[in-house]
Order: sequence, then structure tokens, then C-alpha cells
Amino acid sequence: MTDRYAVIGHPVAHSRSPEIHAAFARATAQAMTYERLLAPLDGFHVAVDAFRASGARGANVTLPFKLEAYRYANELTERARQAGAVNTLKFDGARILGDNTDGVGLCRDIVNNLKVPLVGARILLIGAGGAAHGVIGPLLSAGPQQVAITNRTFSKADEIARHFSSLGPVKAIRLEDLATENFDILINATSASLAGNLPPVPESCLQPGVLAYDMMYGKGQTPFMALAHAAGARTEDGLGMLVEQAAEAFFVWRGVRPATASVIAQLRAQLRST
Ligand code: ATR
Repeated sequence: MTDRYAVIGHPVAHSRSPEIHAAFARATAQAMTYERLLAPLDGFHVAVDAFRASGARGANVTLPFKLEAYRYANELTERARQAGAVNTLKFDGARILGDNTDGVGLCRDIVNNLKVPLVGARILLIGAGGAAHGVIGPLLSAGPQQVAITNRTFSKADEIARHFSSLGPVKAIRLEDLATENFDILINATSASLAGNLPPVPESCLQPGVLAYDMMYGKGQTPFMALAHAAGARTEDGLGMLVEQAAEAFFVWRGVRPATASVIAQLRAQLRST
């Protein structure tokens, strides 16, 4: 029987993961299928139980189920434990491994694809929700000079910085104190772009030479990218991160690391033409 995988979410129709994994499977000659699975908002466990019972070997988990997937797993990788969330499940008999490939996906996109070093970098992470939480551990592991976290609600940035302080140089910073600081990389991990809003970052942080990275992606620039572009910074969206986190999940499942550049290029072309 062909090994089955899926992306589980609500909603899930927009997910690009099936085409990404189909491209990986073709390129690496893996016999597998990958589908979309819409789980009811109150029915994640039941949906995954049924999928496992059908012989499935693994799943990606997207919003809003990453915390439930963390609880569903009976074994966690260190990076999933750090993130407090799971985006990748691997099924092996009674074993349900929970992993999180979001952070490593972000780091690989920045370092390997965009060729911007994280070692020694001064990083500003904007946002203190689930998306930010999921990437701090891998960012700190990459050897930056500092990861500063800012957020509309400062107390949450403070809490998250304290939580990760044993892993490396991380601090919280108030929005009003940003204007006097210099950063090499700004990462927008807020959900502001989804609603077409802008996280309140001063333009002085967005100079030429700075990488402004939005973890969201879409047809055009997000408001954050547009602001950064106008201020002379280099702008990138999260499409590469999406493909890199998928490649890492694929490796967790299949033990084979697929090439990503052609898949990123293919998705980029599709986005532009829609
Ligand atoms: P996610 O899991 O996608 O990170 P979340 O946990 O709801 O979602 O967190 C959303 C993040 O985006 C938070 O950091 C939020 O700031 P607050 O903690 O102050 O709510 C941030 N955010 C959402 N909309 C924003 C906006 N319009 N401007 C600035 N920050 C925003």
C-alpha cells in the first residue's frame, strides 16, 4: 500500500503543502500520497485517529491545531518541546512522534536561500504569539549576537524572552525603544499582515543593508514588506520558509532530503500568475 500523508487544518483548502510534497516525492522517487484533511474545529483528535487507523504514516498540522498536535503526540523532539507546538506528526505503530520544523525552515531559508548569515546577527523578532514562539529556539541555536523580541503587548514579549533565556542571548524590547537600536534582520512573526495591517516598527530600523523578512507570503508584498522596501531594506516573504519546513518534514518521514530551489521557484511563479 502506498504511504499516506496529509496536511490537517481548518481551513485547509488554501494549503500549498500537497503540491510541495508531490514535487518532493517525484524528485526523490518516493511512493507516497499527500492530501488535504479538513478537521472540524472541535474534532482534531477524532480526525487524526481515523487517519492513523486508515494506515497513514504522518501528517503536517497547520492552524489552529499545532497545540493540539503537541498534546496528541506521545513522543516529542527537543525542538517541538522548545516550540511548545507541533507541525509534523510521524506515525509508527503506537508511536506518535511530534516534531516542529518551522524554526529550522526559517533559518535554512535565511541562511541557505537568502545567503544572509545568522551567526553574529542582531535579530529583531516582531510578535510574541505562536508563530514567534515556534522559531526562537532554532534562531538562538544559529548563533546570533542577539534576538530581541518586540510586541504590541510588551508583557508577552517579556514573558517569551524569559522563557527562552537559558537557550541564548534573548531579550524583550519595547516598541518605543526600537528607534535607538540597530538590527541586521527583522522578522515579522505577527499576524498583522493577514489583516493587511502593519506592525508598528520605526522606519529607522529598516535601512539599506537590513533584511526585512515577513513569515507570511502572498501574491504581492505585505504592508511590512512595502514599508521596509520604501525605507531601502531588502524584503523577503515566507514562501521559502514554507518550502523549507516542508522539506524538513519530508526528511523526518522519509529519511531523504529533497532539493528546494526549484519548488520555491515554481510556487513563486504560480503565486505571481494568480
Ligand atoms: P500566531 O499563532 O499566528 O502567532 P497569535 O498567537 O494570535 O497568532 O499572535 C499574534 C501576534 O501578532 C501577537 O504578537 C499579536 O500582538 P499582541 O500580542 O499585542 O496581540 C500580533 N498582532 C496581531 N495583529 C497585530 C497588529 N495589527 N499590530 C501589531 N501586532 C499585531
